[in-house]
Amino acid sequence: MDLYEYQARDLFEAHGVPVLPGRTAATPEEAADVATEIGGAVVVKAQVKVGGRGKAGGVKLARDVTETRERAAAILGMDIKGHTVHQVLVTAASGIAEEYYFSFLLDRSNRTFLAMASAEGGMEIEQLAVERPDALAKIPVDSITGVDKAKAAEIVAAGKIPAEVADKAADVIVKLWETFVAEDATLVEVNPLVRDPQDNIIALDGKVTLDENADFRHPGHAALVDKRTEDPLEAKAKAKNLNYVKLDGQVGIIGNGAGLVMSTLDVVAYAGERHNGVKPANFLDIGGGASAAVMAAGLDVILGDPDVRSVYVNVFGGITACDAVATGIVEALKILGEQATKPLVVRLDGNSVLEGRAILNEANHPLITLVETMDDAADKAAELAAVGA
Ligand SMILES: Nc1ncnc2c1ncn2[C@@H]1O[C@H](COP(=O)(O)OP(=O)(O)OP(=O)(O)O)[C@@H](O)[C@H]1O
Ligand SMILES: [Mg+2]
Repeated sequence: MDLYEYQARDLFEAHGVPVLPGRTAATPEEAADVATEIGGAVVVKAQVKVGGRGKAGGVKLARDVTETRERAAAILGMDIKGHTVHQVLVTAASGIAEEYYFSFLLDRSNRTFLAMASAEGGMEIEQLAVERPDALAKIPVDSITGVDKAKAAEIVAAGKIPAEVADKAADVIVKLWETFVAEDATLVEVNPLVRDPQDNIIALDGKVTLDENADFRHPGHAALVDKRTEDPLEAKAKAKNLNYVKLDGQVGIIGNGAGLVMSTLDVVAYAGERHNGVKPANFLDIGGGASAAVMAAGLDVILGDPDVRSVYVNVFGGITACDAVATGIVEALKILGEQATKPLVVRLDGNSVLEGRAILNEANHPLITLVETMDDAADKAAELAAVGA
């Protein structure tokens, strides 16, 4: 889950990373109140989960309370790259001597964590990374030894952060690592990490991505979810503990096991090329124990997707045998009753496949088409979705 800047700011503050005073406002009046509290010049910043806010006009300096009200009125409701601004962060304006770039991230391809640092931070960092990659230091971080002061000093030196502030920058980097570890983040990025005219090092902007697989360790993280921008189907699936990702096609997909579901997406996309270009509508892995309740929950989410015109249930019987899955499908359709309206193409294979098929044949449900092979089932599901178009 990606966090808003203000949420990153609050996490930083909780872990002792220096940040500026500030809080969010949803109306110009509220923004004016925050500016009054802070006193002096402030910066009004659009809170959207997308980069390049400054260039899009979503970050503005305001010299006093009146100007804050005006800036907030202009920024609230703005559309930045398809994201509506529902709130702004009003934060103290800082003097800036220099802007650095800093991040910790999970480097999946190298199976390690990575620190990235540069003395040339600010809004042009993406360009810098492409044009002069040498100016952006990349230092692997061992997950066992982590980042102590000595390691932080090594990172600071590699990023060519000036000697006068090297010690302070290293202290901040140690705190950022503590944040990264304690919150189970996969990204902590500070751009700019600012050197102010008094040589203080301050995190002026923050991007944090939290690892949702670690949510069970962080009851507090649930409160960080913004219900306004969550996909309603994904929210529903999450509430039912389903492994669901919404895609933009028309063929609903249910399978057991992430690998099988991934290949099902592929065969459906391929079959779709012959049928009006239909595509998979979602990823949904119902896992090992495909009970009737889980199958019903999965079907309920998929049938609730207005884009879906057919559903492909692809199950390979393993520990949970095909007869149990077949019973699950039949029971699920009973549970859903009138809500189940779209055709289901079912392909079963593996443990107890004959018993499973017999159960479906016997049920003789008008919505179910049983197809023997994975490719033929994909073709049938794509064809039904194309007809429904
Ligand atoms: N509190 C502040 N005081 C002074 N200047 C600021 C402050 N916040 C931001 N700025 C200036 O505005 C620039 C852009 O701000 P920021 O980094 O938060 O947004 P951004 O980089 O455009 O957004 P994103 O990180 O989403 O791409 C900073 O590089 C900095 O120069
Ligand atoms: Mg930034």
